[in-house]
Amino acid sequence: MQSTVPPGLDRKETELYLKLDPKRLPRHIAIIMDGNGRWARRRHLPRVAGHRSGVAAVRSTVETAARIGIQALTLYAFSEENWKKRPKSEVDFLMGLLSRYLKQEVPTLNKNNIRLEYIGRQHELPAAVRERMAWARQATEKNSSMVLTLALNYSARSELVDAFQSLVHAAARNGGLEHLQVDEDSISQHLYTRHLPDPDLVIRTSGEMRLSNFLLWQLAYAEIYVTPTLWPDFRGVHLLEGVAEYQKRERRYGGLSQDHAPTQSHGVEPSRSHPHAAKTARN
Ligand code: FPP
Repeated sequence: MQSTVPPGLDRKETELYLKLDPKRLPRHIAIIMDGNGRWARRRHLPRVAGHRSGVAAVRSTVETAARIGIQALTLYAFSEENWKKRPKSEVDFLMGLLSRYLKQEVPTLNKNNIRLEYIGRQHELPAAVRERMAWARQATEKNSSMVLTLALNYSARSELVDAFQSLVHAAARNGGLEHLQVDEDSISQHLYTRHLPDPDLVIRTSGEMRLSNFLLWQLAYAEIYVTPTLWPDFRGVHLLEGVAEYQKRERRYGGLSQDHAPTQSHGVEPSRSHPHAAKTARN
């Protein structure tokens, strides 16, 4: 419990924030934004109306995350599968929405000291969108409080394929395949997310219990929180509910719970606060 509430939280957010332990916030939260289509269908609106309303949810979530001091927030905006399997009209709408979001949001990102990054196969996106993305990234590159990463045309399996290819190319440039080094650190360093710690918490909206090809390597030890709230209805207060649930969990990284932990240590114990300390353990 603590008394200082970050400025800008509304009444409900403040109530929830006061129940949190600010020393045990997740460093990195990843969100699978889902339910835009269902939100629209329930209102007899076209699917794209759900995407349009989803932007307000993005705005609220990003601001609240930055206000409470989350270091990294990653949003699954659209997958490689969404990009390849949805009607062109919907994909075009999403591209337009993203471009407008980036243009409108840069001043607010700068005001809140948020740096923008992207993961996914950007080279497959339309040139005009890529230009807008590059502009927004550059405009926010000096910000240092939170990194907001948008997963666009993203697939975890493609990311792993790209990482292994990048490892092989790096070895070839470095004198040949005998210099190929494959271990957990080298793979992590070749992922799109090399600028980020692994997520501590992954949130999925709309009640679905799937990871949908999102950050499969990086989520190895993440706590999973699924809420029935559809993405367009999601706000900062729901993010805080996810954080509250996260703080109830006991993270073991394959070790023992505190009740069963040995009182004296023999050799190296997996650290409860450092996921890489217990990389090979299963939990
Ligand atoms: C999933 O809902 C959502 C998407 C595929 C798109 C997400 C886009 C936004 C939230 C808005 C734009 C984002 C940014 C960053 C500006 P769905 O369509 O799969 O919903 P359904 O499962 O109910 O059909």
